[in-house]
Amino acid sequence: MKVLMAMFLLVMLSACNGPGYSGAGSSRVSIPFTPDISINAVMVAQIDHAAHFIWNAANPDMDESLIDWQEVSHHAIQLIASRSAMSMGGTGINDAMWIAQPSWRDYVNLMNEGSLLALRSARSEDVQGLTRAGDILVESCESCHRQYKPSIPTEGFLHPH
Ligand code: HEC
Repeated sequence: MKVLMAMFLLVMLSACNGPGYSGAGSSRVSIPFTPDISINAVMVAQIDHAAHFIWNAANPDMDESLIDWQEVSHHAIQLIASRSAMSMGGTGINDAMWIAQPSWRDYVNLMNEGSLLALRSARSEDVQGLTRAGDILVESCESCHRQYKPSIPTEGFLHPH
């Protein structure tokens, strides 16, 4: 009976190291799923909103003492979180094709780099870092759009403001 218990425990333990875990000692699990919305929707409802808040805060005409750093960090976190949706694609007709391109991944990673810098800058109230983060973000949107964005949005969602 003891032997059986020991074997059972071994099986349980080895199951924890099965595929889906990103490395020894890591608690990250990759669960495959795709969002029930399109990249077009994520762009307009999440990424565009969040990025505009960051650009407004980084505007050199803005009085630095008026920057709401907590809001900047919240919007940076929204951008960081949108990386998953951008990497997995959703219901848009072109999504699966886009996410398979290596350069798509590069642009997504560039956007993430700018977002992480925005978050670090917000946490340390660093205006120069925020400005640099804003520039990296602009570069990521523009370079990806130049290569991938159709002139008419696939689901009709456009920049609203
Ligand atoms: C990895 C590529 C990629 C990155 C990075 C990216 N976009 Fe997009 N974006 C797209 C694609 C592709 C579409 C078109 C989606 C569709 O029509 O299905 C789009 C569409 C949009 C739209 C809606 C269409 C329109 O013309 O109004 C907005 C707004 C937008 N993006 C804003 C941004 C902003 C702001 C950033 C940067 C902070 C950004 N995007 C970064 C690929 C990207």
